[in-house]
Parts: sequence; C-alpha cells; structure tokens
Amino acid sequence: MPKVQTTRRKLSHIQTTLHEQVQSHVPTGFEDVRLIHKALPEIDRQEVDLSTPIFGYKLNAPIVIESMTGGTPDAARINQRLAKVAQKLGIAMGVGSQRAAIEDASLAYTYRIAREAAPSIPLFANLGCPQLVHGDAVDCAKRAVDMIHASGLFIHLNALQESVQYEGETDFRNMLRRISELASALSVPVLVKETGAGVSKETAQALERAKVSGINVSGLGGTSWAGVEYYRARAKRYKLQMELGLTFWDWGTPTVPSIIEVTNSTRLKVFASGGVRNGLHVAKAIALGAHYGGFALPLLKSASSGEAVAVERLTTVIEELKNAMFLTGSRNLEQLRQAPLVITGSTYQWIIQRGFDPTVYASRSYSEEDLSPVRAS
Ligand SMILES: Cc1cc2nc3c(=O)[nH]c(=O)nc-3n(C[C@H](O)[C@H](O)[C@H](O)COP(=O)(O)O)c2cc1C
Repeated sequence: MPKVQTTRRKLSHIQTTLHEQVQSHVPTGFEDVRLIHKALPEIDRQEVDLSTPIFGYKLNAPIVIESMTGGTPDAARINQRLAKVAQKLGIAMGVGSQRAAIEDASLAYTYRIAREAAPSIPLFANLGCPQLVHGDAVDCAKRAVDMIHASGLFIHLNALQESVQYEGETDFRNMLRRISELASALSVPVLVKETGAGVSKETAQALERAKVSGINVSGLGGTSWAGVEYYRARAKRYKLQMELGLTFWDWGTPTVPSIIEVTNSTRLKVFASGGVRNGLHVAKAIALGAHYGGFALPLLKSASSGEAVAVERLTTVIEELKNAMFLTGSRNLEQLRQAPLVITGSTYQWIIQRGFDPTVYASRSYSEEDLSPVRAS
C-alpha cells in the first residue's frame, strides 16, 4: 500500500466521521441493563472513589480516550489536544494506527506529540493486522511502542472494515500466532481491540491463550466502520463497496453482549467501547465486569471544537459515573462491579442463546449488613 494512500485515508476517516452520519442503527444493549437503585445508599457522594490501576499506572477514573488518529498535521493537532485532556484528567489514551509512521518515519511526530503533551499517563500504541501479517511483526511493534514511549500496544482487528473497503487488505491468516509472538516478545502489555464489531467468547479465549493482557471489545452500537467506508466508496463511485458498506453497516456483536461474552469467559482486563456515550454507560459496563470505558467519536468531535470542550465533555462523563456509583451505594469500582442489576430484552435473549448463566447477575443483592440500622459507621 503506497504511503501517500495511508495518509490520505486517515484524513478522509476524520472528515467522514466528523461530517457524516456514521452511527450504527443497532443499539449497544445498554438500554437493556438497569442498575438497581439503592434508595438508601448509606454513603456520602463525596467519598466515592473512581481511581483504578492499569498496568502499573493509577487512573483518576476508569476512562480511556480510544485509539483514533495520527499521520497528518491535522491528526497531530488532535492527538496533542486529546493528550493534554488525558493528562489533565488523569485518564488513559491510545493513538491511532501508527502504520503511516512505520511507512514514513517523518510522520512519527504526529504520534509522539501525544506523549510529549501527556508525559505521565498510560498511552497505548496501535497497529493493525496487515502490518503484522507481512514482514517482521516484532520489529514493527517495537518501533511503534518506542515511537511514543508507549505503556502498552493495542493491536486492532478490523476485518469488517477491510472487507468492505476498496483498497482493503483481507489476509488475516496466522494473525493469532503473530499476536502470541508479540505478547511474549514485547516488554509492554499487548492488548487487542476490535473497531466496532465486538469480540466473542471464542475469540476472547483464544486471545487469552495467546497471552494478551486485555481486550477492548469495541462492539456494535457506536461508530460503524462499514458506514464510514460506504461514504468513502460513494465519493469515489465504487458501486460494489457502497453496497457492501450498506449491507454490513450493522454487522457485529453489540457492545453489551460483547462485554458479557468476554467478561464471562476470560480473566482479562476488559475495555468497554463502541457507542459508550456517557458515564452511566461506563457504570453499566463496569457492573457487567469490564474495567474501563472508552470513547472515540464523541471525543474527536469535542476535541475538534477545542481542548476545553473535550475537558467539559469528559468531566460530565466522570460526574455521571460518580452519580451512578452513589445511587448504587458503591464507594469504589470494586463495589460497583458487584452492584445488583437486571438484564432485559434482546441482551437477555443473547445471554440465554449463547449459553451464559443469567444467575451470575440475578444472584446479586445489596448486602444486609450494609443496610443494618445498627451498622457501625
Ligand atoms: C476517526 C476515527 C479513527 C479511528 N482510528 C482507529 C485506529 O487507527 N485504530 C483503532 O484501533 N481504532 C480506531 N478507531 C476505532 C475506535 O477506537 C473505536 O473502537 C470505535 O470508533 C468505536 O467507538 P465509538 O463508538 O466511541 O466511536 C477510530 C475511530 C474513529 C472515530
């Protein structure tokens, strides 16, 4: 793939996601999950602690700015802005696919700028399959990690996007073996992320056996990459790719079923993303067993209006999460992870048909000790 093409494609992805309607038509499943309100929370909202560990770092809140961009001067500005926001709030961030800088080292600054703006946050490198299937995967991954002094590497899986894209690269053979090699060769954690089509229990278990440190489910319900490619195909009048983009617009496992698949089948760190749009979504994801919540497109939009807008957006998310924790009487994220909840609708059907045990959630209740009138305060 010529490098100019990689850079142009990055630019057109930003433009398309900012200006076209690229949302999936299928909901995430968060609407099927209700945390049980605790009318007697028995805690002070002020004491709610959102901090959490992540690969040797401590986050002020379990929030990740998802992998998005790099490779062009505009992308550099966005990465710098997002990184400043992450540094200010004490949250994590991923840069977008570093392919452009692997192909052309003069573009490395468009990613490195994020580390310069955020020296002390967990910052994740990012590479896709085509870069790893062909050539020396370990060397390529080490360069990506070193480029930004990364705290970990996200390998993104985007078979859906590649399959509907005109210039798509669809040779995914031996990818699992490559991931496994990387997990043992790199000195930082290797994680895998989807890009809007979700992860199943079978894939998650295979990745756990490959010794990855975490999975970002990036499920269906948020940005549709088939949708993004539809618009790009339309601009170029690629009729077949337009049809493919439309037909597969809503392909994949929605985010909530995907969280359930991965948290019930592995012991890995789970990042919930794909249509995560507020702090209540993050709270529900954590109550379902995820560890962190990730936001992509909403933050690209906020950051394009300025750093202050993105800080305000994320501050709201953090307050929403805190509120959900207060209303479930959760002093910290460990307690939120045990909060009683009910799952209804198509997500409940999903649990049953995929053979998961619904009583895992149904057996939870608020502890009697917590609600005892004579409890020592
Ligand atoms: C403009 C844009 C560029 C993206 N580029 C990447 C990328 O390079 N690597 C990656 O792993 N994911 C990439 N993603 C996918 C996101 O990280 C995320 O998984 C997906 O958009 C779903 O989250 P959302 O619904 O909050 O947008 C990108 C998303 C957007 C909006």
